[in-house]
Amino acid sequence: MKLGLFFGGKSFEHEVSCASAKSIYEEIDRSKYEVTLVWIDPNGVWFHLIGTPNFDAPELGEREVYESRKLDVAFSILHGPFGEDGPMQGYFSLFNIPFVGPDLRTSAICYDKALTRKLAGLKAPKWLLYSGQSYDALAEKLGEVIYVKPNRSGSSVGISRVKSARQLQEALDLAGRYDDSIIIEQEIRGKEIEIAVLGNKNPKVSLPARVIPKGAFHSYETKYLDPNGVVFQIPAELSQNKIAEIQELAIEAYRNLGCEGFSRIDFLLDGEERVFLNEVNTLPGFRKTSTYPRLWALSGISYSNLIEELIDLALERQARRESLALGELQRVAQAAR
Ligand SMILES: Nc1ncnc2c1ncn2[C@@H]1O[C@H](COP(=O)(O)OP(=O)(O)O)[C@@H](O)[C@H]1O
Ligand SMILES: [Mg+2]
Repeated sequence: MKLGLFFGGKSFEHEVSCASAKSIYEEIDRSKYEVTLVWIDPNGVWFHLIGTPNFDAPELGEREVYESRKLDVAFSILHGPFGEDGPMQGYFSLFNIPFVGPDLRTSAICYDKALTRKLAGLKAPKWLLYSGQSYDALAEKLGEVIYVKPNRSGSSVGISRVKSARQLQEALDLAGRYDDSIIIEQEIRGKEIEIAVLGNKNPKVSLPARVIPKGAFHSYETKYLDPNGVVFQIPAELSQNKIAEIQELAIEAYRNLGCEGFSRIDFLLDGEERVFLNEVNTLPGFRKTSTYPRLWALSGISYSNLIEELIDLALERQARRESLALGELQRVAQAAR
């Protein structure tokens, strides 16, 4: 089977994507899948890597300009904008290539924090889209400590925790560099929980993980720069009831948002362990040591089996889509012309 592995990309998560691709390439069963490596450089130019790939510096390896070729399935692991938010999913759909993960619609929705919260149907921190309010007005509505985020972003880029009018101005300037819409929300202090969901129509859910960052929140620094910035408690130490509740909520959000293939659902628990939805990641970090694969390893699904399961889910969805009457409608339209 010819598999296209797409990675890199124009986003600030370029390196993270290369690291995910490296793990996939190293662990995928090469007797089953013939892998074409497609590296998208930071300027958005597509290359086909030939020879031994260098995932730390793909620009140093042998490559040729990529021309679309026949693929049986695509695995795009482009985290962040220009990849996770819909365009790659649209590209594969246009060319009828089955692909891993949620479709264009769900990818775009989940990359938009406000839309996710509206459509997931779960309790979330109180939030609003910024429209010129003063710090005092925001604090009255959301509490004295608020989070200011680009509405569409990832890896904590552009996010600030704000406690004063002066910090608010700085935070707005920062977030405004990444998106022209800014979401502001209530802080939920307690536990940060991540959980993995896998499947199409009948998804299964893992045990939850707990993320314990060193500073006040899980920032870009604690995610990538400080090797001791965060502790992952896998699985999270929670009561059986709480675990069951979180698992049920994760499945509910997954279904309501139309997720397919995989997604990682992130929650915040307050002091009384009430559960709030934070966000949904439709292309979760996918190094072998990332939370998503580690959670499945707990349930006995190895990293290479996980890759295979994702590919099978992509093929299953494609077959289902092709069995719909869409082709028939096209023929009707043509006949009517
Ligand atoms: N409402 C909130 N209350 C408490 N902590 C939050 C809240 N929103 C975000 N955080 C903290 O900020 C981090 C990044 O925010 P998140 O919404 O997950 O953005 P990203 O898409 O960049 O990962 C979270 O992992 C968490 O540590
Ligand atoms: Mg997050």
